[in-house]
Amino acid sequence: APALPALAIEPHPARVSDADRADRIADPGFGRIFTDHMASAVWNTEQGWHDARITPRVPLQIDPATSVLHYAQEIFEGMKAYRTADGAMALFRPQENARRFNASARRMAMPEIPEALFLEAVRQVVATDADWFPGVPGGALYIRPFMFSSDVRLGVRPASEYRFLVIVSPVGNYFRGDPTAIKLWVSRNYVRAAPGGTGEAKCGGNYAGSLVAQAEAIERGCDQVVYLDAIERKWVEELGGMNLFFVMDDGTLVTPPLGGTILPGITRDSLITIARDEGLTVREERYGIDQWRADAASGRLVESFACGTAAVVTPVGEVRDGDSVFTIGSGGPGQLTQRLRQRLVDIQYGRAPDRHNWVESI
Ligand code: COI
Repeated sequence: APALPALAIEPHPARVSDADRADRIADPGFGRIFTDHMASAVWNTEQGWHDARITPRVPLQIDPATSVLHYAQEIFEGMKAYRTADGAMALFRPQENARRFNASARRMAMPEIPEALFLEAVRQVVATDADWFPGVPGGALYIRPFMFSSDVRLGVRPASEYRFLVIVSPVGNYFRGDPTAIKLWVSRNYVRAAPGGTGEAKCGGNYAGSLVAQAEAIERGCDQVVYLDAIERKWVEELGGMNLFFVMDDGTLVTPPLGGTILPGITRDSLITIARDEGLTVREERYGIDQWRADAASGRLVESFACGTAAVVTPVGEVRDGDSVFTIGSGGPGQLTQRLRQRLVDIQYGRAPDRHNWVESI
């Protein structure tokens, strides 16, 4: 393999002023504001990965025939940098993101990127824009690495050139208005993924395909869509942008198994480990929508929560399925949900022992 390209750094000639930055990060929301710099690299068939650099964050010039605009050969990651208790900056299991990125790349017939280059690009852009950490509770820098095909050509085939970029967004809560528990809409008209499809890849197309169902959810006063499996249309898979857990009255946790149609969440995986560390039983097994409704009604199921990098751990209060609605527990945040959330964020923010070496300082 060729030597890794070092990232050349071109600092921004005219950064946002301190006052302007402070104003923007005071109430960041999710993915609305961005830092001054970005990382980028180019791959082509002749040179492989090259031209890796940190530059000012500027608009891209894209030819109208650029293949990603037509055939959506695009993948991305979502990860966060945290300002830890001792004032340092840390990433959470970043290598897992690098690995998943390459798994997505393989599925979408794109070139893999050396993990070291992925990680160095992430670290360097965060280090360069370290003054953008929002001070709000739960605040972090959301990091968005992505790659797209940049051939100028309309033939349907893997491209001969790709661009990799990393942008950074100071964020607070993903859900607007900081709801204490979210409402879910069960999609009966649309599926997110089918066996053999792209469900376990983090490709933009999966999210494009979810928007019409998400619009239905919003229309019904809900925050996220619950997707059922494509074959039997009964097994709960995941939400449009996060994984799902069920909490039983004996303290057992259930989450749908990864089988190719579910996004293999790093938060999901971490919560399974944290729960098992606590002595809880976690079962990765199929759970039906009818069972969920019945268990919520009988009290056998006491809590449900969504999880993801963006959503962290978010309690589910209510599930709407057609004209019927069922409530989860009290309809508010459940005890175990809150405890697992606390355990996770305490590790991420350096307030609890990092037993699994998940936290990497920058
Ligand atoms: C994330 O949690 O990082 C995602 O990519 C999901 C998306 C809803 C923002």
